[in-house]
Amino acid sequence: MSKSNIVCMLDFPQYGDDRGNLVVIEALTNIPFMIKRIFYIYGSKNEIVRGNHANRITEFVLINVAGKSKVKILDKEGEEQVFTLDQPNQGLYLPPMVWKEMYDFSSDAVLLVLASQPYLSDEYIRDYESFVKEVNCDV
Ligand code: TYD
Repeated sequence: MSKSNIVCMLDFPQYGDDRGNLVVIEALTNIPFMIKRIFYIYGSKNEIVRGNHANRITEFVLINVAGKSKVKILDKEGEEQVFTLDQPNQGLYLPPMVWKEMYDFSSDAVLLVLASQPYLSDEYIRDYESFVKEVNCDV
């Protein structure tokens, strides 16, 4: 799988039979990085917004393995793209240096996140103005 610097939806192979469904995600086959960290978010109230940050080096894939949520991506001009995650066999790929907000969680939402790096709080940019400056090399 080739590297991409573009936010995009990924479709994962899904195997279903009369026993139910099984979705497969293999590092470097279905997603473009080695998975070094997995976390998941559940029990988020519908009115809250999570994220509100960019990551300098980490790539992510976000999958709503149950329920629904939305992800808003903001670029340095404030232009936004909104993705609805409601399919367990689809994931949203986020390259580094993308401002993201997760919101509109359904009560049954389980948002699974695959990450290319371990957790390093220093690589988070938690202020949008600082993010814009860094993207513009104006730091
Ligand atoms: P936070 O980044 O605020 O979550 P979100 O991106 O959903 O808004 O993380 C919440 C807390 O969890 C914060 O104290 C940092 C901690 N945390 C870790 O320790 N390791 C991790 O991999 C992540 C994602 C968060």
